Amino acid sequence: MKIVGISSSPRGKNSNTLKLLDAALEGAAKAGAEVESIDVAKLKIKYCTACNTCQETGVCSIKDDYNGVLEKLLAADGIIFSSPNYITNVTAQLKTLFDRSPLVIHEQLFAGKYSFSLTTAGSGEIDFVLDIMNNYMAHCGGNTIGGVGCAMAKGPSAMEAAIEKSREMGKDLVEAIKEKRQYPEQEVAHEAWRDHFKYVILANKDNWTHNCDYWLEKGWIKE
Ligand SMILES: Cc1cc2nc3c(=O)[nH]c(=O)nc-3n(C[C@H](O)[C@H](O)[C@H](O)COP(=O)(O)O)c2cc1C
Repeated sequence: MKIVGISSSPRGKNSNTLKLLDAALEGAAKAGAEVESIDVAKLKIKYCTACNTCQETGVCSIKDDYNGVLEKLLAADGIIFSSPNYITNVTAQLKTLFDRSPLVIHEQLFAGKYSFSLTTAGSGEIDFVLDIMNNYMAHCGGNTIGGVGCAMAKGPSAMEAAIEKSREMGKDLVEAIKEKRQYPEQEVAHEAWRDHFKYVILANKDNWTHNCDYWLEKGWIKE
């Protein structure tokens, strides 16, 4: 079983959020997973140019570090997203990775995978930022088991508690993957998304040929 953690703070090893991610990956490793940490702030990932090549061919046209990250995410059973709160959002580095995902979203390539999210903030709005990362996973077709965050203003004991909670959630991610945990309400949301997005695929069928073939193969649309 493979679990990939994504960190996205520009502060490298000084990152508060990385402390949560390290603990989560430690917990997952202890529960038997093979783990890998990827710092997208250290990689060269350019902005999506909306060229539509991925929808047409199944491959992103931009030559940079994104395709390597995608390969690792596709090979993973579980993904842990992490970002500090930057103006009640994720960092630009993580958002840039998210924006490179039209293929993953249109073809629901994270279906069957599980995730959770981690954040730290100066003062708060933890849940809002966790929801941004968990919504991304939902858009990609995957299921999320929750999230952990900490407002640094609450002091060292709050951070200690968040580190411990992250470690436990890392272990629980392994359990969720092992038991193929069911989240009926998330499955309903995936179905509703496909129902709505079917019309977008059909409207673009002459151009988004890779997406269209994939939907036909999955039986999500008919000839
Ligand atoms: C550009 C920037 C924007 C930030 N915006 C917020 C914010 O909107 N709300 C908040 O509570 N903290 C905010 N912070 C504080 C960080 O979220 C906080 O210090 C966090 O723990 C940093 O995580 P890191 O050490 O992993 O980079 C911001 C910090 C920076 C540098």
